[in-house]
Amino acid sequence: MQADILIRNVHLATLADAAGYGEVHAGALAVHAGRIAWLGRESELPATLQAAQEVDAQGGWLTPGLIDCHTHLVYAGSRANEIEMRWAGAAYEDIARAGGGILSSVRATRAASATALQAAATPRLRALMRDGVTTIEIKSGYGLETATEIRQLQVARALGLACGVRVRTTFLGAHALPPEYAGRADDYITLLCEEMLPAVHAAGLADAVDGFCEGIGFSPAQTLRLFAAAQALGLPVKLHADQLSDLSGAALVAGCGGLSADHMEYTSTASVAAMAKAGTVAVLLPGAFYCLKETRLPPVAALRAAGVPMAVSSDCNPGTSPGTSLLLMLHMACTLFGLRAEEALAGATRHAARALGLQSETGCLRAGLSADLALWAINHPRDLVCEFGHAPRVASWCCGRALDA
Ligand code: NIG
Ligand code: FE
Repeated sequence: MQADILIRNVHLATLADAAGYGEVHAGALAVHAGRIAWLGRESELPATLQAAQEVDAQGGWLTPGLIDCHTHLVYAGSRANEIEMRWAGAAYEDIARAGGGILSSVRATRAASATALQAAATPRLRALMRDGVTTIEIKSGYGLETATEIRQLQVARALGLACGVRVRTTFLGAHALPPEYAGRADDYITLLCEEMLPAVHAAGLADAVDGFCEGIGFSPAQTLRLFAAAQALGLPVKLHADQLSDLSGAALVAGCGGLSADHMEYTSTASVAAMAKAGTVAVLLPGAFYCLKETRLPPVAALRAAGVPMAVSSDCNPGTSPGTSLLLMLHMACTLFGLRAEEALAGATRHAARALGLQSETGCLRAGLSADLALWAINHPRDLVCEFGHAPRVASWCCGRALDA
């Protein structure tokens, strides 16, 4: 049996089972042709195994590479001033209605070249990679016009090539109403459906379509029109749902067979039931909850009881979650939302993969899956969630290729 890499003297947290970490103590894992070729107890390594390279993990822990399944990583400018305004008492929605918020980032992003956007986003991606991220979803949504949306998505793809991680791109043209369409939201949705989305799709730049269904975003009816256009092109859908109010967004995206409903602070139990029925993943975003000083909690107990998979993501964006530590988000998901540590880690691996439709490719340690791995100097996988600020990553691999973070 041939292997390109054999990682030995390692404990495995496979995250492959419905509960727990899937611990294999004193284990080993072999990689061949970018895939996990074998894993198990080191004492049971096949005698015929020949490895081109051996990695002595010195008793560390190997987990699936982490997956950040909801980010707005590619943007220009800063909204630090708005964060200070909120600390002084201003509301996120009021800042948005006054032309700040998302539209402030739209102005900066429209004015930025692809080179400038990539230079701005690279340190954010590197920081996430130092937290063990090997797959990341990156949305557009700070262009709100065809050329800039395409530029954002091209930069997202270029980042994946430059840094070696797997990037999934999401078209979020329905993030906010651009100033040119003020008072004409239905016309903007028509533009999205008839021009922008087909152009992005023709360029092969979108793996999925997202929207912001909210009082300061788009209505359920407008969201449904967008989703119909996406599905006519064969693109999966997901939604910023029920973040600031309950518009039954989670039920809407579940009703469309969508990949995920994201945020979900105001999601009702009826919507949770719709998600369970459809197999739609709940993406919890504690960074935005924290940064907006929200008090309304996502319905974690109801999601758990209904068996809805819960993912956890950074929501990295300049306005509501200006951070680049997925491990910190796992800690916050437990402290703020009441997840258990093993649920949080599954939320950044197995369930995050499902939220991107990648569950047959990555998200746990299993023979045949992509060799997306993170090696940590920790005593137990719970340490990744319970502690923060330590950067315990020793190494990581995407498709069997070592990443340089
Ligand atoms: O996920 N809610 C809408 N979208 C982002 C915020 C984007 C922004 O404020 O720039 C979010 O929180
Ligand atoms: Fe978001």
